[in-house]
Amino acid sequence: RIPLGIICAMPEEIAALLGDMTGIERRELAGREVLTGQLFGRPVAMIESGIGKVAAAMTATLLLDGLRCRAIVMSGVAGGIDPALAIGDLVVAQRLIQHDYGRLQAGGFTPFRPAVPPFGPGRNDYAFELPDGMLTRIHAALDGFTLPSLPTDLVGVDARAPVIKVGTIVSGDQFINDEDVRGRLQREFGAHACEMEGAAVAQVAEAFGVPAIVIRSLSDLAGSDSHLDFGKFVTAVAPTAAKVVERLVPVL
Ligand code: ADE
Repeated sequence: RIPLGIICAMPEEIAALLGDMTGIERRELAGREVLTGQLFGRPVAMIESGIGKVAAAMTATLLLDGLRCRAIVMSGVAGGIDPALAIGDLVVAQRLIQHDYGRLQAGGFTPFRPAVPPFGPGRNDYAFELPDGMLTRIHAALDGFTLPSLPTDLVGVDARAPVIKVGTIVSGDQFINDEDVRGRLQREFGAHACEMEGAAVAQVAEAFGVPAIVIRSLSDLAGSDSHLDFGKFVTAVAPTAAKVVERLVPVL
């Protein structure tokens, strides 16, 4: 059977899924360890990509071309962009955009208005959207699903159950650590969260004609404290994304 491909950028994110994986076999491909086995009852191939769009794109290519995966799930953490979201909340990407693709001039950055179609012949739009059927199945699977509250002593914020938002994730080769940039990503792209891989995986997945499902729990809020919050919360919130992966795997 054709496996589901799973990508995580970092070891903390892999660790959140590894405990649920059975029958693990390991091999090496392009300097990365490929783990094959069963996860939540399905055959999977899982790779720790490393951070950034290039690492993510090459890992997606390995899974889709070499290992013939039928879809890709990217699971991990992100910075929150939507002010309604808190650390520990979660975003599933309906729409993915590469926020650092565009024109850079002395006066500033202009996203996505290049003179040529951005991502290859015939692809004039810069956003990658989940297919309607997949989106409907995801909404149905998440309907009535609640995540357990994170321990207050760990997260240090309100102990409400994490919110799950199906929305827009922006990706770029930059760790967002600035309130003005956070505001720009919200205004220009309507972003709910930012990270450094998802939209690159989506671009590769589209080229292979398979869906990319990006699931991200918020480790920080992308403002001036985001580097501190990221270090504090990455391990605590990564399992939240894993729980949503478990919930969604049956419908993918
Ligand atoms: N992943 C987690 N937090 C992030 C941030 N603030 N910027 C980019 N990627 C992230």
